Amino acid sequence: MIKMSRKQSKLELVALTLYDKPFSFSWSYVMRQSLVMGNWKMNGSRSDGLALANAIAAGLNDGDQGIAVCVPYVYLSDVHDVIKNTPLVLGGQNVADQESGAYTGEISGAMLKECGCTYALVGHSERRSYYGDTDESVATRFCQAQKQNIIPVLCVGETLEERESDKTFAVIDRQLNAVIDMAGINAIAESVIAYEPVWAIGTGKTATDDQAQEVHKYIREQIAAKSQAVAEKVQILYGGSVKPENAKAIFAKPDIDGGLIGGASLDAASFLAIYQAI
Ligand code: PGA
Repeated sequence: MIKMSRKQSKLELVALTLYDKPFSFSWSYVMRQSLVMGNWKMNGSRSDGLALANAIAAGLNDGDQGIAVCVPYVYLSDVHDVIKNTPLVLGGQNVADQESGAYTGEISGAMLKECGCTYALVGHSERRSYYGDTDESVATRFCQAQKQNIIPVLCVGETLEERESDKTFAVIDRQLNAVIDMAGINAIAESVIAYEPVWAIGTGKTATDDQAQEVHKYIREQIAAKSQAVAEKVQILYGGSVKPENAKAIFAKPDIDGGLIGGASLDAASFLAIYQAI
């Protein structure tokens, strides 16, 4: 397999067929759009968010693609007003596992859509560990997002303890299969996966590019075992202390299609530098 990449897209040569005739050959390749997504978490005020969104948008050119920010719910509409005519795209940080009704505190996929969202994170490790989002509820949230034409960004990843006891792949299997079992393999093609080792989130500790690639490759292989076409199409992002200094090496890996950026996405210059590293 020969890999070629250029800014904003990952071009992967998957088959090169040589025929008998000299100088005659055909090749088929898949193009995966790269994606750099910021996750603001529960940070900043309304005016901070608007200033940040404006500054990011101001640093983009008309043809730019594959850049998004996941914003606190209460600022989604305001941020959408600022970015709607720019290449910057909007996402929510979670989505309800129900369509509508008596679910106090939850935000539905339809509500996110109304606020201008294209994406919603599901199963972020902070949701799983602090707020009890289970594999099953994450799978239901994933399905609810797709039902409302929101692209779910399924976050998976192991804790330090799980890595140290060689359970990384088992954890990934469990988290991924919960969604595949409920939504079906073809639904994965219409989603984004984010591999975020929990020990690297907000800790300043980044997985090495080889450690990240190993897990990304594993995820793609598990999907390929069920559908080669889905595996070739799905974007798999890396998240966990990505910064301008380490982004280039991480994004250069063949199975890493971009990043989910927490801390460094709160500063427009850093976030844009990470986007430029693709
Ligand atoms: P971080 O967060 O970049 O601050 O490590 C990543 C995330 O939680 O998505």
